Amino acid sequence: MRQNALVPGGFGNTRRDWATEMREETDRTMADYYARRASEYERVYQKPERQGDLRRLTNLLSTAFVGQDVLEVACGTGYWTQFIAKSARSIVAADINPEVLDIARRKKYASCRVTFLKSDAYLLAEVEAHCTAGFHGFWWSHIPIQKVVAFLNTFHSALLQDALVVMVDNAYVEGSSTPISRRDNDGNTYQIRQLQDGSKHEILKNFPSPEELRTALQPHATDVQVTQLDYYWMVRYRKKG
Ligand SMILES: C[S@@+](CC[C@H](N)C(=O)[O-])C[C@H]1O[C@@H](n2cnc3c(N)ncnc32)[C@H](O)[C@@H]1O
Repeated sequence: MRQNALVPGGFGNTRRDWATEMREETDRTMADYYARRASEYERVYQKPERQGDLRRLTNLLSTAFVGQDVLEVACGTGYWTQFIAKSARSIVAADINPEVLDIARRKKYASCRVTFLKSDAYLLAEVEAHCTAGFHGFWWSHIPIQKVVAFLNTFHSALLQDALVVMVDNAYVEGSSTPISRRDNDGNTYQIRQLQDGSKHEILKNFPSPEELRTALQPHATDVQVTQLDYYWMVRYRKKG
């Protein structure tokens, strides 16, 4: 991390500057980690004990977006994009990392029109679409608690009124999940992850309860349905008008 004047009491900057700088550093670390992990990312979908749940998610997502124009943020290598494409009319799939988008572009998407964009999920500056539906997979867990509202406002601004939104993510399962290494003052939790090259990375990874998800979504969503599987959760809702 940069050592500079952005510390409490340093050169007139406030504590808020320091907190913001720390959060941005956490986000950068996470994005860099996924760029480096791109070629080995889909091994996460090979864990034997998770195959039953993954089949269920695959089936649900393959039929979730019939005829819809879907905005997918943090699409990664397009793993879920390929199943969403089975029923969606079109998909705008965005991610901050060109490394994962290159892999995603090589997949087959049947007759669905899929457009890939390099775009930061907190800005979505490159996304012009006003989509009828939204999706993100394994992204919510990486959003710092303090940025959830900002993310939802940006994401929803690219969606039409009453848009269908689906998101899926990990539940914490002792013995299967990477252990939590620490919790910060805002309640975010972290894991130490190792890549195949031996490098270690501290990654923000939150595991919200169904109640926490409902509370966070309440101002932004209607018809919120939370489905809990053994290793994952799925939320389906409509964007509030
Ligand atoms: C856990 S992966 C999920 C990938 C994919 N959705 C999936 O479920 O297979 C998180 C993804 O978020 C992307 N990412 C990280 N920071 C981002 C940001 N600020 N905006 C958009 N994507 C980001 C990473 O490049 C990575 O592809």
